[in-house]
Amino acid sequence: DARAVIGENLLDAAHARGVELEGACEGSLACSTCHVVFDSEDVFASLPEACDDENDMLDLAYGLTATSRLGCQVI
Ligand code: FES
Repeated sequence: DARAVIGENLLDAAHARGVELEGACEGSLACSTCHVVFDSEDVFASLPEACDDENDMLDLAYGLTATSRLGCQVI
């Protein structure tokens, strides 16, 4: 698991800190319940780009914004 090498993703980090964020598929890009919206466009722009599978799932997310990501994919 590449994420284990690089470190926790945003979904895991949120859970570790008691933040309520769903993650129904536990990071396997099969849901969009870990949808997060970044307040800061600068922070959003600094992230590695979303892969095609993430973008496909994001398209299904409720309330999609220009700074939306799936929390389980943000490292
Ligand atoms: Fe399902 Fe992130 S937890 S896509």
